Amino acid sequence: MERLSDRVMIVTGAASGIGQATAIRLVSEGAKVLASDINAEGLAETLETANKVASEDGGECITHVADISDEADAANTVETAVEAWGRLDGIANIAGMLRSGRTHEFDLDTWNKILTVNLTGTFLMCREALPHLMESKGAIVNAASTSSSFGHPWMGAYAASKGAVWSFTQTLAVEYCKVPVRANCVAPGSVHSGITSNVTFPDDITKEEGKLIRRIMSPTGFGDPGDVASVVAMLLSDDGKHITGECIRIDGGTHA
Ligand SMILES: NC(=O)c1ccc[n+]([C@@H]2O[C@H](COP(=O)([O-])OP(=O)(O)OC[C@H]3O[C@@H](n4cnc5c(N)ncnc54)[C@H](O)[C@@H]3O)[C@@H](O)[C@H]2O)c1
Repeated sequence: MERLSDRVMIVTGAASGIGQATAIRLVSEGAKVLASDINAEGLAETLETANKVASEDGGECITHVADISDEADAANTVETAVEAWGRLDGIANIAGMLRSGRTHEFDLDTWNKILTVNLTGTFLMCREALPHLMESKGAIVNAASTSSSFGHPWMGAYAASKGAVWSFTQTLAVEYCKVPVRANCVAPGSVHSGITSNVTFPDDITKEEGKLIRRIMSPTGFGDPGDVASVVAMLLSDDGKHITGECIRIDGGTHA
């Protein structure tokens, strides 16, 4: 038996980067995974690889195009997984977005969009999943960031959303500890992905300001999405059964 055989999991942000690696990792460990994202093309890639690694112990993958910040989509995502396999044991809320810019120039629409996707989307997915996770005594893993607890210049909206994801997750851990449903965060940093390859900094940063970028760069180099996926898989499995309300940094020592 694989460690996630017979477990039903949802992974959001599963079309790219850490979410894609997580969906594939969970399937390889025997889980039945609903891989969800707004990006249908990326999900098709995820499905192709997941099908290749599906284990003899029941690993399966289906995909579902949905926007986590849309209330109906969030509900429909959870319903689809439960209709397919009759239960839900875990959810990895990995979907997220980053836009950077100087705070004194940052526009309200972009601020609201980032908070709506990263924070409200995570809340909506947890809210819809919780009734099923309470039945299965399941687990939640939310994607925080090293910016949840360390200053990252020009990322005010993103850092605020990720700090709130972390505090929301701690609240879940305590609120549902008697069921129990476990709730943890992973806090990646310097991991190759769509977000890190598209990140931009203000065009006019000075040489002195540019030195601040070092504080968000790992001294050991960039990690791979699979380096985060393995931790998510542990937290969703019984290997993580005594861990709740924790935020595990996976940042190659950036903030050591
Ligand atoms: N890569 C890093 O170093 C790093 C660092 C800190 C935090 N994170 C977090 O890890 C998570 C995964 O990001 P990644 O690095 O793999 O980047 P990524 O851009 O490769 O993946 C993000 C995925 O989220 C999806 N997504 C965005 N908005 C969505 C929405 N509204 N509904 C559904 N899906 C949506 C995107 O389509 C994409 O597939 C994010 O929450 C990100 O903030 C990553």
